[in-house]
Amino acid sequence: MTSKALTTVVLAAGKGTRMKSRLPKVLHPIAGRPMLGHVLAAAAGVDGAQTVLVVGPDMDAVSNYAAGEQRELKTAIQEKQAGTGDAVRAAAAHISDRDGVVLVVFGDTPLVRSATLAGMVDRCRTASDIVILGFEAKDPTGYGRIVTDGDKVVRIVEHKDASEKESAIRLCFGGPMAVRAQHLPQLLSKLTNDNAQGEFYLTDFVAHGRAADLDCSSVICSESDIQGVNSRADLASAEAEMQKRLRADAMAGGVTFLDPDTVYLSFDTEFGEDITVGQNVVFAPGCRVASGATIKAFSHLEGAEIGEGAEIGPFARIRPGSNIGRKAKIGNFVETKKAKIEEGAKVSHLSYIGDARVGAGANVGAGTITCNYDGYNKFFTDIGAGAFVGSNSSLVAPVKIGDGAYLGSGSVVTKDVSADALAVARGKQIEKPGWAAAFRAKNEGIKKASSGD
Ligand code: UD1
Ligand code: MG
Repeated sequence: MTSKALTTVVLAAGKGTRMKSRLPKVLHPIAGRPMLGHVLAAAAGVDGAQTVLVVGPDMDAVSNYAAGEQRELKTAIQEKQAGTGDAVRAAAAHISDRDGVVLVVFGDTPLVRSATLAGMVDRCRTASDIVILGFEAKDPTGYGRIVTDGDKVVRIVEHKDASEKESAIRLCFGGPMAVRAQHLPQLLSKLTNDNAQGEFYLTDFVAHGRAADLDCSSVICSESDIQGVNSRADLASAEAEMQKRLRADAMAGGVTFLDPDTVYLSFDTEFGEDITVGQNVVFAPGCRVASGATIKAFSHLEGAEIGEGAEIGPFARIRPGSNIGRKAKIGNFVETKKAKIEEGAKVSHLSYIGDARVGAGANVGAGTITCNYDGYNKFFTDIGAGAFVGSNSSLVAPVKIGDGAYLGSGSVVTKDVSADALAVARGKQIEKPGWAAAFRAKNEGIKKASSGD
């Protein structure tokens, strides 16, 4: 290990009682990804970091999720949730490099940026023994207040322990703290739980560090980059902030949003250039949209690949496994799932296309349904290139419509159709001349007789 290596300790053992949830707090999603995933990604972006995750004894869901995100991750168990300082103590056994820097980050600050953390680590490596991240809070309620002396940090006082004067301080502690590892054992040994919450506070490192003549300083970021999530209201506020960030990035990359505030993105939404997105569109996780595509109003997309120049919506539902080809068109009230719609194919109105391929240039008429499910198994529908599926057809899978074939409207197709053939599978139309007039005359006669006219 190189000297001054970095160990990042991610705290995720808290009970998150204020969330009122069975789901561990750090697994609540922001932009389609658990908060912890955002924090791990930010931490991984700092050079030379090895990560230790601190979880509670009954939090397999959290450690399993994190292990899936980062293979090299070590996990420490905090037996009893006795505070953030106690959580760092639980991680101490995994911090072997005494020359290095330890960066503590909280799992409930999903907006934290890599660059901010990197700046703190840099300062800790070169200038300060302890570096904390601070921000000016609009409303500091609940946060630890940073007491300063000029540009030095004196201590952090938790909201519940603050005097009236301290409560008025708006400079708050954001969670991340970088500490030179050589001081860690001593700082941990000084912690007591003699405070309003009966917990061992990480924040006390600052006062103890000062008492031991350590240099304590702060890096400041905006509230929107570090706001903590302790309640559902905080979760909504962090989500809104993340959406703003994702929209700004997308627009900078060449996407037009007709009304940005109504488009919801996921952490992994990928866009090419010259894409137009209409009002009220949702991109759930796993979407990639190629250049020149248009996504019209009120569409919902998830786990989908949209090809160059394709047109989606309005009111389309594009479900996982959909691959919409170049210049293909999916119109209103169309649902696709595990469907490959090849180049230039059109499904313009009121259709369900699931477990299917629609070949290049094929036209699927209004109201066409792939009947892909028998209650137990899913079956595949294959529509050949250039085929024309008449409106209101039901394609009972497994079934194959050959290239260039025609299907009569209203067909219920249960057998394969050969290339270039016409298939019609519907009741034959019959006509009885004069039947309606006779029917009316008979019934009008009965009506008159019974009413006595
Ligand atoms: C904490 C800080 C506060 C700061 C705020 C920023 C302390 C004592 N307080 O308060 O100064 O302004 O964050 O958002 O540090 N955790 C554990 N084990 C525990 C307790 C907590 O791992 O025993 C984890 C939680 O999962 C969470 C993080 O530590 O990810 C912070 O805990 P939380 O209870 O949310 O602290 P806050 O009250 O927000
Ligand atoms: Mg918190």
